[in-house]
Amino acid sequence: MSHQIATLIAGDLGAPTTNKTAFLTIDYVIIELLRNVLQHSDDSLGAIVGAQLNDKGSHSDHPVFQVAVADRGSGIRATLSRTHPEVVDDDVALEQALWPYHSGAFAPGKAGGLENAGLGLFYISEMAKELGGRLLVASGDSALLVDPRLQHRIERLKVGFPGTLVAFEIPTDVPDDFDALFNKISETARARSPRKLTKEWLRFEAPPSHSQRFMINAFVENNEEALRLAQDRVIPRLMKKEPVVLDFLNVRVITQSFAHALLFEPVRYAWASQTPIFISNAQPVVASALRHVEMYAQDR
Ligand SMILES: Nc1ncnc2c1ncn2[C@@H]1O[C@H](COP(=O)(O)OP(=O)(O)OP(=O)(O)O)[C@@H](O)[C@H]1O
Ligand SMILES: [Mg+2]
Repeated sequence: MSHQIATLIAGDLGAPTTNKTAFLTIDYVIIELLRNVLQHSDDSLGAIVGAQLNDKGSHSDHPVFQVAVADRGSGIRATLSRTHPEVVDDDVALEQALWPYHSGAFAPGKAGGLENAGLGLFYISEMAKELGGRLLVASGDSALLVDPRLQHRIERLKVGFPGTLVAFEIPTDVPDDFDALFNKISETARARSPRKLTKEWLRFEAPPSHSQRFMINAFVENNEEALRLAQDRVIPRLMKKEPVVLDFLNVRVITQSFAHALLFEPVRYAWASQTPIFISNAQPVVASALRHVEMYAQDR
């Protein structure tokens, strides 16, 4: 069925004018979202799938393919918290559902279960990012919108959905090399597979009073600034075993790539120098993104 829908909106896969990457991406997204409905949602009615080529109105000068799949089942938090009891709210559930090798179907630290690798939504979100598209995931009381045109590229919306709704959009004229896209995302997945922490060097408790504090809100989602802060100010202090505090006051949500730029190297230095990095004022959804970096950065 996914193939037929992709053909209806993107054209025949064999035709010379069809953008094969766009076609195969739509096909993949529909398959993975319907697999999720069948495997996780517990919705006896199944799901509704909508798909269209939108080249009218505000999209007349940048046509897009759009796909949405919605069920009214148990929602992401209920299923993910089966194996991840730390998932305490819908914001955190949505954030973690986008992690690679992370799933409600197998225990943390494993690379996969019988039927699941924990990769479906990760691939879908990376496809949206890599192809200049957008992604909305809504479940329970929360929704995450990933959109390169937003000031911070990601936004937490205070609207929910009784079940799970995923909406995906890509431009019709994406660069046509599906294998390269898929390989790139596989690499990222491998590099970001979370492993169980033996010791936590990100600390969410009150820091020592003499710690140097950095306010993150001033440059949130500016990855270059994050890298510069890490290299020039955080790592030198960790090497001298001086505690630092990263203060996330007024930060509502962060992308995985910003968390990565900010913390991947510092976490490795924290491990090496056995010096904690203190995190202040992180909302659960921000703390979750930071913890993810710690879980894949250790020992690499
Ligand atoms: N429609 C849904 N209803 C309820 N929970 C869902 C739904 N879709 C995803 N989830 C939750 O989000 C988790 C992550 O989904 P994702 O597709 O990324 O991985 P997976 O389905 O576990 O593994 P894979 O897709 O590799 O087979 C799922 O394990 C499940 O807990
Ligand atoms: Mg899946």
